[in-house]
Amino acid sequence: MDIERVQLQSHGDHGGMLVSLETDRNVPFPIRRVYYIFGTQQGIHRGCHAHRHLNQLAIAVRGSVKILLDDGNGAREVLLDQPSSGLFMGSMVWRELYDFSDDCVLMVLADQPYDPTDYIRDYAQFLGELSDRTYLEGVVAC
Ligand code: TYD
Repeated sequence: MDIERVQLQSHGDHGGMLVSLETDRNVPFPIRRVYYIFGTQQGIHRGCHAHRHLNQLAIAVRGSVKILLDDGNGAREVLLDQPSSGLFMGSMVWRELYDFSDDCVLMVLADQPYDPTDYIRDYAQFLGELSDRTYLEGVVAC
């Protein structure tokens, strides 16, 4: 699958760095929610779900984490370890987050409010909903 990494421009400032996140400038959707994950214990896998509609941009603002993305046709593992590098995680992509460094703070920007009904937490269900969509798109195209 294609991985969409977003390079975020760093501005040097008083001997340090600053990254600005702005809808339509370097964030490809309207930002409706921001959350961050930290204090993740060693050996923990997070995520293990897909979203039906949600689009997100993940940035390891501190430390590092590996993210596996799977669109049903293939999976890719991405290492996030730079505060100037974002990873776009679109809808209907299965994701798993693991190998968090002790100091990892993973910030996630999202284009929708939190909605538990948007989650698909079962991989077989995810594949089923993907094939339903493919079928429906095929019907519309005909
Ligand atoms: P969850 O999305 O299940 O985390 P992960 O898939 O990374 O393990 O969320 C964990 C908990 O946090 C769950 O109780 C729901 C809550 N939560 C919110 O209240 N708001 C949010 O925006 C998110 C992402 C989670």
